[in-house]
Amino acid sequence: MNILGINAYHGNASAAIVCDGKLVAAVEEERFNRVKYAAGFPAQAIRYCLQEAGLKLSEIEHVAVPRNPYARLATKLFYALRMPSFARERARVLTKFTGIPEALAHAFDADPKALLARFHRVEHHQAHLASSFYCAPFDQAALLSADGLGDFASTMWGTGLGNRMQIQGAVAFPHSLGLYYSAVTQYLGFLKFGDEYKVMGLAAYGQPEQSEVFREIVKFGETGNGNGFRLGLDFFTHHRTGPEMSWAEADKTPTLGRLFSEQMGKRLRAPARAPEGPLEPRHKNLAASLQARLEEVYLGMLRKLAKQSQRRAVSLAGGVAFNCVANGKIFDATPFEHVYVHPAAGDAGLAVGAALYVWHQILDKPRSFVMDHAYWGPSFSRQQIQRAITASEPASKGFVVADLPEGELLKRTAAIIADGKVLGWFQGRAEWGPRALGNRSIVADPRRPEMKEILNRRIKHREVFRPFAPSILAEETGTWFEKSHPSPFMTLAYSVKPDKRQQIPAPTHVDGTGRVQTVTREANPRYHALISAFRDLTGVPVVLNTSFNDNEPIVCTPEEAVDCFFRTQMDALVLGDFLITKS
Ligand SMILES: [Fe+2]
Repeated sequence: MNILGINAYHGNASAAIVCDGKLVAAVEEERFNRVKYAAGFPAQAIRYCLQEAGLKLSEIEHVAVPRNPYARLATKLFYALRMPSFARERARVLTKFTGIPEALAHAFDADPKALLARFHRVEHHQAHLASSFYCAPFDQAALLSADGLGDFASTMWGTGLGNRMQIQGAVAFPHSLGLYYSAVTQYLGFLKFGDEYKVMGLAAYGQPEQSEVFREIVKFGETGNGNGFRLGLDFFTHHRTGPEMSWAEADKTPTLGRLFSEQMGKRLRAPARAPEGPLEPRHKNLAASLQARLEEVYLGMLRKLAKQSQRRAVSLAGGVAFNCVANGKIFDATPFEHVYVHPAAGDAGLAVGAALYVWHQILDKPRSFVMDHAYWGPSFSRQQIQRAITASEPASKGFVVADLPEGELLKRTAAIIADGKVLGWFQGRAEWGPRALGNRSIVADPRRPEMKEILNRRIKHREVFRPFAPSILAEETGTWFEKSHPSPFMTLAYSVKPDKRQQIPAPTHVDGTGRVQTVTREANPRYHALISAFRDLTGVPVVLNTSFNDNEPIVCTPEEAVDCFFRTQMDALVLGDFLITKS
């Protein structure tokens, strides 16, 4: 039984294929069309998934789309009557969605009538919950989707047992933790889609001195609506104008209209920061206050969920579940002992979630799959890699290429990292989700405090306040961090043990935490072997890991890797078995 999941006409367009209950392939459209967070119809992602599964479109029996236009119809109608422009936008999106069978047929040059698949509409948050629960190593768990907005809700929770999910509550538009975070992110002068991640990094530099105002911006208490929270709507505009998400026609880049009202400036006693303006201490304190209130509400919701569900494990998805700082506090702040966050917790993950929802919840099939690694994207043969290297003419640029057996490759590569060089590392299948996890990574020495500045200046061109992440041998996690719970997808930040901070300053954030990736031999044998080789050389079982890109989607093909390598100023590049170094 073959199920295709498609997240289309929405940020992070993506596709996934589930065959007989097991995920075979999953990838974001941005990796092909090279537009970050691209929306539109993910034709190239679908094509890749079919190819990886060895299927023709006519062999797909079910297509799952993570959107149900009939969810919360009464609330939608209420707002549609008050906001005609919003109603028009919803109608436009709905037309696109009902046209997905035609778009699919068109992309594959097929007659829509020849498509045999049954189409299923899965509600946005149920697809988020499914993406997490049906991929988690838990037979039973509490479930939470904490998000911006989808199908007119921002938040949903429930429980999972075996192959069934039970939904117990939701928070409807306009109340949203994701929009709350986005609104203050905009207020702080970060206007691009996805900038919330930057502000989370900035928060560690400030003090939450405006917590009282932030408790008015998001209200939460024992008497809240179920497990939920409410926004102080005076601070926002989206309930009056509609959340204006638009997609540039040219390249499908998403932008979000202004979310905060004048009240934000009045109560915070400071004007909004101009983009590119100086970052003053008060901005850092605002970021800290924003993050502190998010944690109070998020962890408070999780405490209530733990109490109601009586479960020890929790499965998380939705954009807010990318808040690794908040996630890292779950173990101390709630009764939960096990946490699973889907690696594509944002809307890309809906493609996997919708497909698994159909398999389990609609077709009632038993569980047989755990997502214990994130390598579900394209891979390339030795010949393809070799062709890409040859075409780049490394010798003419002063580089030499060596084709090495694994032991020699790892030994030489570990020595290059230990020598303070910046390494591009390209192996196997591309990662699913926004984090590079050792297959499309830039790897560097974590022991050198100057490494952050070197990476930023030469390659990444990121804001200086943003931290870099550590990859650690999973078996060493408890020796170096205050927590040892698995974090295979870099979705949990833990405190580095105080006596170890001096040893890995480069990926240790200003507050002493690291957004850690715990690497097992089973999940990624070659990356595990590389970190082990580095440990054998230096005594440190950690490398600094950042995504292989330069202000663009993570590289996908060997050609893009080689191009990024020569364009930026990396010192060495490993592609499969090939090592490229300066001659
Ligand atoms: Fe979402």
